[in-house]
Amino acid sequence: MRIFVVGASGAIGTRLVPQLIARGHTVIGTHRSPDHEKRVRELGAEPVGLDLLDKRAVRDAVRAAEPAAIIHQATALTNLRDFRHFDRSFAQTNRLRTEGTDALLAAAREAGVRRFIAQSFASTLYERSGGPVKTEDDPLDAHPVPAMRETVAAMRHLDETVRSAGGIVLRYGGFYGDEDGLVEAVRRRMFPIVGRGEGVTSFIHLEDAAAATVLALDYDGSGAFNVVDDEPAAVREWLPVLAKMLGAKPPRRVPRWLARLVAGEAAVVLGTGTRGGSNAKAKRELGWEPRYPSWREGFAATYAEDRPTAPASRPHEPVTNMR
Ligand SMILES: NC(=O)c1ccc[n+]([C@@H]2O[C@H](COP(=O)([O-])OP(=O)(O)OC[C@H]3O[C@@H](n4cnc5c(N)ncnc54)[C@H](OP(=O)(O)O)[C@@H]3O)[C@@H](O)[C@H]2O)c1
Repeated sequence: MRIFVVGASGAIGTRLVPQLIARGHTVIGTHRSPDHEKRVRELGAEPVGLDLLDKRAVRDAVRAAEPAAIIHQATALTNLRDFRHFDRSFAQTNRLRTEGTDALLAAAREAGVRRFIAQSFASTLYERSGGPVKTEDDPLDAHPVPAMRETVAAMRHLDETVRSAGGIVLRYGGFYGDEDGLVEAVRRRMFPIVGRGEGVTSFIHLEDAAAATVLALDYDGSGAFNVVDDEPAAVREWLPVLAKMLGAKPPRRVPRWLARLVAGEAAVVLGTGTRGGSNAKAKRELGWEPRYPSWREGFAATYAEDRPTAPASRPHEPVTNMR
């Protein structure tokens, strides 16, 4: 199949392109930074420079590529640091999720592209009440805190427009598998446990996220899938484990009021209010099995100094298990 991957040069795109090619697909991969053309070419894709916010350029690029499927993996999250002004930090990503998605869907319609897959994020999408682990049928957050209003609205826009156009939304867990910002913050003890640290995170290794995306191409129909690992976990559970693996000091603990004062309301939500996702539907309907069923073994394989060659056994049962 000819596949148009938007954001082929990013964290997920660079894992996805080789997996698509290994499955026999032909990939036209976009990049935004001129420097990343070489990266996309070396992955085996045909590189195309594209600004997703340029509607006409999007239409022309899709028409020229003549793809059978479009995969939207564009975000602008490099150097994301300022959680205090959450919506401002996500402003460009929000545009890629709203205007960018709309431009791609319009181009897909015009060029007769029937398969469309787009990236979303599980943990900040779901309603922050009820159980700790959500399925795709659970309601999305209709009352985000003011600091996150635009970001949650952009994710909802993407989710709703893509599904109503007959496409597939992949609600990924928190990516790991790279030297990313999270790891650096934990190493420097800049990522504290807020309050009781009960906010739940679902993680996913980048290779596993890419594998689920490849399988989604064969799914007939539209819908949303949580692409997350088997073990959603509270911050108070996963953060000390990651810190220890990185050889960092244990995370600090800060009360909610102090986190709100220093890092803003979004930091309190991420530390105490988020929910995890169940991957039962993705396993059942996409036939997907994550290579790293738990962040415990995935973190160990990625970050621990004495990385095991085979997945490590689980030290104890998770507090927040999806099953
Ligand atoms: N679920 C998650 O946890 C999640 C999701 C996304 C990102 N992240 C994290 O955020 C960090 C940064 O992500 P990243 O490395 O993928 O970089 P990024 O800056 O978020 O870019 C992602 C992709 O989108 C492209 N892009 C950016 N602006 C665009 C535009 N206006 N038009 C078209 N394409 C555009 C980029 O192209 P260029 O590379 O050419 O600029 C790149 O291919 C990583 O640590 C990643 O793991 C996490």
